[in-house]
Amino acid sequence: MNIILLGAPGAGKGTQAEVISDRLSIPTISTGNIIREALKTGTEMGLKAKSYMEAGQLVPDEVVIGIIKERLAKDDCQNGFILDGFPRTIPQAEALDNMGIVIDKVIDIEVTDEAIIKRMSGRRVCEKCGASYHMEYKRPQEDGVCDKCAGTLVQRKDDHPDTVKARLEVYHKETEPLKGYYEKQGKLSVIQGQDTVEQTTAHILKAVEA
Ligand code: AP5
Repeated sequence: MNIILLGAPGAGKGTQAEVISDRLSIPTISTGNIIREALKTGTEMGLKAKSYMEAGQLVPDEVVIGIIKERLAKDDCQNGFILDGFPRTIPQAEALDNMGIVIDKVIDIEVTDEAIIKRMSGRRVCEKCGASYHMEYKRPQEDGVCDKCAGTLVQRKDDHPDTVKARLEVYHKETEPLKGYYEKQGKLSVIQGQDTVEQTTAHILKAVEA
């Protein structure tokens, strides 16, 4: 099954993608993670993306479309995949359609802007393996240390409140119209994302199985 997770920054797409990917045994493709990795290793694409990402702006369509084309061609995507953070604009969704990729379900995770600002200010990520935590909702066993690899937990540069506000503005302008795009295709399910992580997973699995 080919699934898209839609939702504002911090709606819980990454958290849910990890769980759903395990349950359905299909890979998650996160353009945000791919770009952050390129940034860390200093590739040309990473350098191009850096200023956009740190300002909370979208990386140009042609760059992300290229990333996705390359990633979806890999063997592990043949039995399905979860897209987390792509598409984010109508041209990106059109590019996906033009690649001949058939999307089965689009799950939109709804969370209010107010709750998002609270979630983002508490998020910490491992600088080594990228695992995500929250100072209130998902605490590591030891403060500041990753449970999985003992790496140091840091705040993402784009999680500072001003940048989060910029990301939300971009989301409402550029990404939210995708709901209408996929509703017209009869693929959209809107689910409540303000419950606990477990309850949100249950809403998503119900929508996937419907
Ligand atoms: P990306 O990494 O994709 O960021 P995002 O969509 O803004 O998503 P986040 O990772 O911030 O949030 P999330 O929804 O995954 O939430 P999470 O599960 O972590 O993109 C970053 C940047 O890359 C973009 O700004 C852009 O520059 C560029 N980019 C990427 N893709 C692009 C594209 N296609 N086109 C152009 N540019 C692109 O949850 C957030 C926090 O809340 C965590 O701390 C978590 O523990 C907590 N939490 C989760 N669920 C719950 C819950 N139910 N209750 C309480 N807390 C919860």
